Amino acid sequence: MRTCRVGLVGAGGVAQRHARVLDGFDDVEIVGVTDVARDAAQRLADAHGGRAFADVDELLAAGPDAVYVCVPPFAHGPVEEAIVAAGVPMFVEKPVAVDLDTAERIADLVARRGLLTGVGHHWRYLHVVAEARELLAGRPVRMVGGAWLDKVPPVAWWARRDRSGGPVVEQAAHVLDLMRALVGEVTEVSAYGDGAPPPVDGADIDSVTTAALRFAGGAVGTLSAACVLGWKHRAGLEILADGLALRLAEDGLTIRDADGERHLPADPDGARTAVDRAFVDAVRGVGDDVRVPYAEALRTQRLALAIAESARTGRPVSLPTGPAAPAGVGVDA
Ligand SMILES: NC(=O)c1ccc[n+]([C@@H]2O[C@H](COP(=O)([O-])OP(=O)(O)OC[C@H]3O[C@@H](n4cnc5c(N)ncnc54)[C@H](O)[C@@H]3O)[C@@H](O)[C@H]2O)c1
Repeated sequence: MRTCRVGLVGAGGVAQRHARVLDGFDDVEIVGVTDVARDAAQRLADAHGGRAFADVDELLAAGPDAVYVCVPPFAHGPVEEAIVAAGVPMFVEKPVAVDLDTAERIADLVARRGLLTGVGHHWRYLHVVAEARELLAGRPVRMVGGAWLDKVPPVAWWARRDRSGGPVVEQAAHVLDLMRALVGEVTEVSAYGDGAPPPVDGADIDSVTTAALRFAGGAVGTLSAACVLGWKHRAGLEILADGLALRLAEDGLTIRDADGERHLPADPDGARTAVDRAFVDAVRGVGDDVRVPYAEALRTQRLALAIAESARTGRPVSLPTGPAAPAGVGVDA
């Protein structure tokens, strides 16, 4: 395949970013876009090429080599089912769904079909993540603290639990995914939410959530999410091992050890480009660096939903760990 012909489903904020990045690749042609808001699809097609299609079936009939799924959390499911049935590689924006059933169902279809997939956890492409991994090699993590402290984003669906899944699922998922990558799997969570939605129309999410996490490797951790600010205050991780403290965010890694403190800047735009580059290379058969295929994102989704469930029910939630563990999340009696 010389040119990778890409279609997009959804033409909102993140689709525009992917279209811009993909448009900058010499070996990609955007065949078109579909969105329930036809005018949004037309604008994106006008800006980056291709046609505005009426629906996913019409887009698939144009024979794309890959499809980007950039819909809000609640809209996942039927879109992916159609793409998997057509056997077309797909890149899905996080979170992969608003619930677990949808994500498990799609993961199962993807596995049966042996389909190439990628998910938009682009933080995994920050070079400082590899640096952190090297620093932690052979040193057990003792403690990790993750946080996403921000505002309510300006999209109408965000503050509705049944539309976004809530801040932990929709936003802090990036941090949870990185925790899993650097510290390992979580076996149990206990979370609290404040039960007080932010002051926006129709909101029913918690404004703040804090969770305690137990990791399979022995570490303990916390995850805090807040949407009560007017700005993005902090998003990232703090990891402690014996004699080593790491602070990792999208813009860099701060390392503190017996030699003192040093900071390695990161390139978030580079990571956003790298995630698309790796997916396109894999579709073209010239690369093998998709770091978060659908099955891997499913594990992050299980963790995020376990925290949301614990905050809602007030009870600890345990998670399956090994590959042979049953799917789903069980509430401890
Ligand atoms: N990886 C990242 O850094 C990153 C950044 C931003 C957003 N996102 C994720 O991307 C997703 C979308 O976010 P956004 O900011 O683009 O939202 P958005 O609301 O700006 O855009 C979503 C678009 O999808 C369309 N849509 C809804 N249902 C559809 C359907 N069934 N078929 C086709 N189109 C449909 C809407 O009309 C809208 O144009 C969210 O899950 C969000 O978490 C990821």
